Amino acid sequence: MPSEANVAKAGLEGVVAAESRISDVNGEKGELIYAGYDIHDLAKHSTYEEVVYLLWNGKLPTRGEVEQLKQQINSEAGIPTAIQDLIASVPKNANPMDVLRTVVSALGFYDPDLSESSPEANLRRAIRLTAKFPTIVATFQRVRNGLLPIEPRKDLSIAANFLFTLRGAQPDEVSTRTMDLAFVLHADHELNASTFAARVTAATLSDMYSAIVSAIGTLKGPLHGGANEGVIKNLLEIGSVDRVEAWVRQQLAEKKRIMGFGHRVYRTEDPRATHLREMSRQLAERTGEKRWYEMSRKMEEVMMREKHLNPNVDFYSASTYYALGIPTDLFTPIFACSRISGWTAHVLEQFRNNRLIRPRAQYVGPRGLKYVPIEERGK
Ligand code: COA
Repeated sequence: MPSEANVAKAGLEGVVAAESRISDVNGEKGELIYAGYDIHDLAKHSTYEEVVYLLWNGKLPTRGEVEQLKQQINSEAGIPTAIQDLIASVPKNANPMDVLRTVVSALGFYDPDLSESSPEANLRRAIRLTAKFPTIVATFQRVRNGLLPIEPRKDLSIAANFLFTLRGAQPDEVSTRTMDLAFVLHADHELNASTFAARVTAATLSDMYSAIVSAIGTLKGPLHGGANEGVIKNLLEIGSVDRVEAWVRQQLAEKKRIMGFGHRVYRTEDPRATHLREMSRQLAERTGEKRWYEMSRKMEEVMMREKHLNPNVDFYSASTYYALGIPTDLFTPIFACSRISGWTAHVLEQFRNNRLIRPRAQYVGPRGLKYVPIEERGK
């Protein structure tokens, strides 16, 4: 039994459960760093591949190092035929997060180093998973629409390859930069729920695929990564700027949560939302379809006035992906395509200095009950 001072902390709020060198969130100041670097600097200057290297190695890569990583990723981006067949066999109306979870689980069967658990073998798995996630998502999107899957190209970045394999045409520079920036912003976020799930699984010395399957299942929920799809559903349901205020007030009066607002750690603006808002604005200008951006601004204003809640990472990613023409049920899988780098970084870190993660529960049920034989318990 936990000691009396050791009472349960609902949602583990404020509990520090691991030491990490990967990323840090300062919720009061609205700051996020990846391995010492401010997210604003990375958003302005870095590519996603540099960020992936940073998360795995704790330092920014040289040109040679990032080129080598790109080659490794490009050579692993294809998926085995058996996995393509599996994707083709799932119901066309399956939730893409469920498809991703199932496919990643199955990928473990085809791991060429299956019996090896060395740090080198696990880094190779991290590369493999980071490379294959976007291909899995794009393949499912094509197959469910009766289209043939597209092989990723060896000369494209992760972001460009994702758009290329999704659409079958080379993406323009603005779309590629937008996707790359979205990947930079979503790559890691300290001990968020899905990363924690991955670390708990890894800490039993289970394998990396199992840890990532735990993470995918956790990200799917609407209180975590699933919120971005919830945001676009809401915007589509509301339909116009003049209806936003009444809709938000009605939801709040019914004590419903508005997706894309609030955060466990940030008490001020989520620094990722700052960039996503700007991306959403720029895309709206570019396409001439300003409705979703303007509705989002209005919703932000009403939520600040009514609840004093800020938008989180999921809020403006919704209108950004929508402006790129991405199907709405792929929004959360896109989050996963980026966060896989952070998840694997955390699994590698957990393996480097492992201890089983096994907290306690505060038992609040009865004790000392007398066992009653089943015949004497009534009907
Ligand atoms: N809409 C309406 N009210 C919200 C809200 C939202 N999105 N987020 C928090 N609140 C309110 C809660 O109702 C609660 O109010 P109360 O004290 O009057 O009951 C208060 O703010 C605190 O909420 P709580 O659930 O205790 O915060 P949390 O730290 O446990 O939850 C989230 C954090 C992210 C799960 C929560 O803000 C949320 O559900 N947001 C919507 C989903 C979302 O966007 N998730 C993505 C996160 S990146």
